[in-house]
Amino acid sequence: MNGGSSIKVLGLVGSPKVDGNTAKIVNAILEGAAENGAEAVTYNLASLDIKGCDACHRCQENGCCVIDDDMQELYQQIEEADTVVLGSPVYMWQMTAQTKLLIDRMTAFLRPNFSSRLDNKKLILVFTQGIPDRDAFEPYFEYTAGLLYYLGFDVLEIIVAAGTDNLEVTFRPRLLEKSRDLGKLISTSYLRGLQYRGDESGLTPSI
Ligand SMILES: Cc1cc2nc3c(=O)[nH]c(=O)nc-3n(C[C@H](O)[C@H](O)[C@H](O)COP(=O)(O)O)c2cc1C
Repeated sequence: MNGGSSIKVLGLVGSPKVDGNTAKIVNAILEGAAENGAEAVTYNLASLDIKGCDACHRCQENGCCVIDDDMQELYQQIEEADTVVLGSPVYMWQMTAQTKLLIDRMTAFLRPNFSSRLDNKKLILVFTQGIPDRDAFEPYFEYTAGLLYYLGFDVLEIIVAAGTDNLEVTFRPRLLEKSRDLGKLISTSYLRGLQYRGDESGLTPSI
């Protein structure tokens, strides 16, 4: 948890495109949060050196991963953040490989008994996909939210932008506006008490 007074929001973009559809939504959320006074930092995972977990299991002893790469900075950023906004395009029905590298390395947040070392960490998931049917990968998105819950995150919302190959996010002002509004909402401290999808209707209307 961020020890300072302002809310800290961390954006993690798992697309190789630094200014693609996924980045635009994640950035809109962070812009909204920053407008409301939150500290907002974004990383593009593809621009970082994040190696695959090497299964040494030493992180289970003390919570620290021994691999010396950019993940060390992300561990610290995740621990300091109040809310993480994690975005990935759908690649081959799943998250991108860059995003999966991050997820595998987050095993360091688990204790030997598989409870999480993370405390009251909020997360917003953002997925973009080429096909227009927004329900096509819904079971996978829910599965991923469950996985992140297991890792210690309260998943507040899953944003899905479908049909991006026909209509890019740039041309969806309502989606970007709603994303900014969501950013403003997460920058308010009342969300600190919310639990996993505490409100079944979600934080944002369908976008
Ligand atoms: C290698 C690759 C695999 C993809 N696989 C899928 C897929 O399985 N289903 C889908 O709907 N879109 C798929 N897409 C389309 C992307 O999900 C879509 O264009 C997305 O919005 C790209 O996000 P970005 O602009 O942030 O990179 C794929 C794109 C690429 C490059």
